[in-house]
Amino acid sequence: MDLFVIRGGTPLSGRLPVRGSKNAALPILAASLAAEGETRLANVPALVDVTTLSAVLRTLGVDVHRDADGMLVVRSESNEPCVAEYDLVRKMRASVCVLGPLLGRRGTARVSLPGGCNIGHRPIDLHLRGLASLGADVRLEHGYVVATASSLLGAQIDLAGPQGSTVTGTCNVMTAACFAKGRTVITSAAREPEVVDLAHYLNAGGARISGLGTDVVEIEGTDGFAGVEHQVIPDRIEAATLLIAGLMTGGDVTLENVVPTHLTAVLDILRQMGAFVEIRGATIHVHAAGPLSSVSFVAEPYPGIPTDVQAQLTALLTLARGKAEVVDRVFPDRFLHLPELARMGADVRRAEGGAHVFGVKSLSAAPVMASDLRASAALLLAALSAEGDSILRRVYHLDRGYERLEERLAAVGGQIRRLTEAELSNCRPEELFSDHAPVREPHFAVTSPKSRGSRREQSL
Ligand code: EPU
Repeated sequence: MDLFVIRGGTPLSGRLPVRGSKNAALPILAASLAAEGETRLANVPALVDVTTLSAVLRTLGVDVHRDADGMLVVRSESNEPCVAEYDLVRKMRASVCVLGPLLGRRGTARVSLPGGCNIGHRPIDLHLRGLASLGADVRLEHGYVVATASSLLGAQIDLAGPQGSTVTGTCNVMTAACFAKGRTVITSAAREPEVVDLAHYLNAGGARISGLGTDVVEIEGTDGFAGVEHQVIPDRIEAATLLIAGLMTGGDVTLENVVPTHLTAVLDILRQMGAFVEIRGATIHVHAAGPLSSVSFVAEPYPGIPTDVQAQLTALLTLARGKAEVVDRVFPDRFLHLPELARMGADVRRAEGGAHVFGVKSLSAAPVMASDLRASAALLLAALSAEGDSILRRVYHLDRGYERLEERLAAVGGQIRRLTEAELSNCRPEELFSDHAPVREPHFAVTSPKSRGSRREQSL
């Protein structure tokens, strides 16, 4: 299992291109299994989650590969099998995104329930209710969702849950509704840019979806959609993470390939804290002119501050002047980063639905453990800002959502080494950041026993 050794204290400085969005790429990749003909996706990041979903698609008889230009090419010619097995689905909740496309195109979906998650309770009742409203017979059998329909019928569907709408639930229902007879109206639809990106992909292939980016989405059923070439939007969560990395290290960072309007709420809070933020076209430049001030915030569905940036902003607040209250309305229990930040000297306390953060002057290096994707990002940022060498364990969480983050941060001055436990114990601290230190590749490869064609490990 890989870990990072992070030597903190160097301000990050320079230009960083942002990769394509994980949370846009995954539902689009899932939807492409239902497309007629070939889909070609540009700007799909090389992540463990993309590899995992590709493996799920292969077990469903879909051909997925990267071409020489780095495009992800997807072709689905068969109408079976329709089963997404537990062994793969349990690795990644987003596998549930195959439910709507399978039901719409193939009339049957048997998809394992994704199971537990470190960021809190994550039911899929809204997905199931939405698909049942389209006329599907939806049952739970032996840990699997079984949905069948000889035909789907347009319907009025409300996707409001106790914590707001559902992002991947909206994707599932929207994609299935492309195959329904008549009009479907989804109220309380998720407004996230990733849902809009999926709708753009579907519409380009002939679907008729309107109301994009609003909470009322209308779908005029057709015979589905064709595969097209599509460029995935930049990752707003990665962008926010990198901006916060620049600020936490007292650096000066310019991000390239961003859609600044997707980041409005995050940029607002950074400005309120006192950061310099400049937008020019598809670039954002940030630096801290002086110490930042604490500002309380609530993580909410789009266009609010994303829950996926809550941990990183909380890390930033640990170094700001004053006290802040942090509330996460989407995942009220997504605070496993707090005890690890405390190990680095942060003054953070769990409170009802959130946390209280009292700014300290500096953090100190420590061994810490990643609990989930965004918590690992927060700990990495904290370690980059702390004097000394921190060890971040379980970085496989980070590899699920950030492409070769250590290499990209190294390009702007970050000192991060990827090692195994064995390599760490054989390495003297003074050698860690020398030119002779081992350089390791992240493990993106997944072998699927049922994958068609080549059985060799495929890295996507
Ligand atoms: N919810 C329900 N019932 C449902 C579905 C959701 O009550 O049927 C609740 C959830 O428990 C949660 C809230 O509704 O409290 C929102 O969950 P949502 O369904 O929107 O989350 P998701 O679609 O499973 C996506 C992202 C997450 C991100 C959330 C919220 C993908 C692949 N995942 O998950 O991303 O946190 O939306 O924005 O798009 C991440 O990238 O680190 C990540 C966890």
